Amino acid sequence: MNPSSTKGFYRSLRPLATPSSLLEAGGWPGLFPREGPLELEIGFGNGEYLARSAESSPGSNFVGLEVSWNSLKRALRRLALPPRTNVRVLHLPARPALSFFFTPKSVSIARCLFPIPWPNERHAGKRIFSRPFWDLMACRLVDGGLFQMVTDQRDLALWALAEAGGSAMEFGMRESRELLDTKYERKWLSGGQDVFFHLEGRKTRHQDINEPGLVDMQPHYSSSLDPRDYRPKNRSQDPTVVFGEFLYDQSRGKGLLAAKVVEDQFVQEFYIRVSKLPEGGFKLAPTGRVCPTMGVEIALELASLAPETRGGRRRRQASDDSGTSEPAGGPGTSETPGPREEGGGA
Ligand SMILES: C[S@@+](CC[C@H](N)C(=O)[O-])C[C@H]1O[C@@H](n2cnc3c(N)ncnc32)[C@H](O)[C@@H]1O
Repeated sequence: MNPSSTKGFYRSLRPLATPSSLLEAGGWPGLFPREGPLELEIGFGNGEYLARSAESSPGSNFVGLEVSWNSLKRALRRLALPPRTNVRVLHLPARPALSFFFTPKSVSIARCLFPIPWPNERHAGKRIFSRPFWDLMACRLVDGGLFQMVTDQRDLALWALAEAGGSAMEFGMRESRELLDTKYERKWLSGGQDVFFHLEGRKTRHQDINEPGLVDMQPHYSSSLDPRDYRPKNRSQDPTVVFGEFLYDQSRGKGLLAAKVVEDQFVQEFYIRVSKLPEGGFKLAPTGRVCPTMGVEIALELASLAPETRGGRRRRQASDDSGTSEPAGGPGTSETPGPREEGGGA
């Protein structure tokens, strides 16, 4: 087939990792055919540097993170020819990706080439390289692991350096004419800039951080839910939870509640299955390929409404002990505290 005739197509989705494929594979090592050091590129754009890196270091495995689907499509086309088995891409922003889908001490080298500088102070919150990011990065890097960043903006480099002060990363910065041949580098070169700012940091000590990560999710139960008037409350703080329509089949005692959960820019839209139990009350569990995050857990808590059935944590403990996934005292028993805030209307 003439490669130009496939323009607009992905050619192959094989390099595309998704949260659910990652969960099924048990993490990144399960998605690569060969073991090797893991290298990460944040904001790979059209994927040319990622593709070259994967080609020139076949003994390493590469993961690219990108928020733009159009860029990701371009990178998928590039990564398909020739096919490379040591590179995967994930359509997620860096922070939640690192937080949910990378384990401590798993990344050997992370890099970001020409990040968006967000020079306006009003947008400072959008800059990636804040202190919480460095703490997270230091946790995910292997001992002695490296972080590299190149930017055309001196101010951004200095800001990132200042943010890293006191973290478990030790940085150096240099001005350099060394070229990496990326689209944005060529763009700045054509505009007359030929000196760029290279930031290189090494992890100096390990520090665990209090990241929510993934939780061990179990069904929730409600004894007070009334399907004729079921409107669980939304939650407006991160993780935000917004409930949509509730479809209920009275004859089968089954319903679906639409939910959208956003936590640290990680968006999940799914349905919560609400099933009437023969002994009374309802069982609530997410359907489909949902990542078991704390945000989804909170959505289940809010959806289960009745304060005595919210929060599966202690119930989980009890069921773990008894070797069953049912609550120790049966559905709808009073065992757990209410939600943190904006609780359901019960
Ligand atoms: C200025 S471009 C640089 C692209 C490429 N590295 C290059 O040098 O040509 C910045 C890229 O970072 C991506 N990006 C922005 N914020 C991101 C984030 N939080 N996580 C991952 N990618 C991000 C953008 O979509 C964009 O593709």
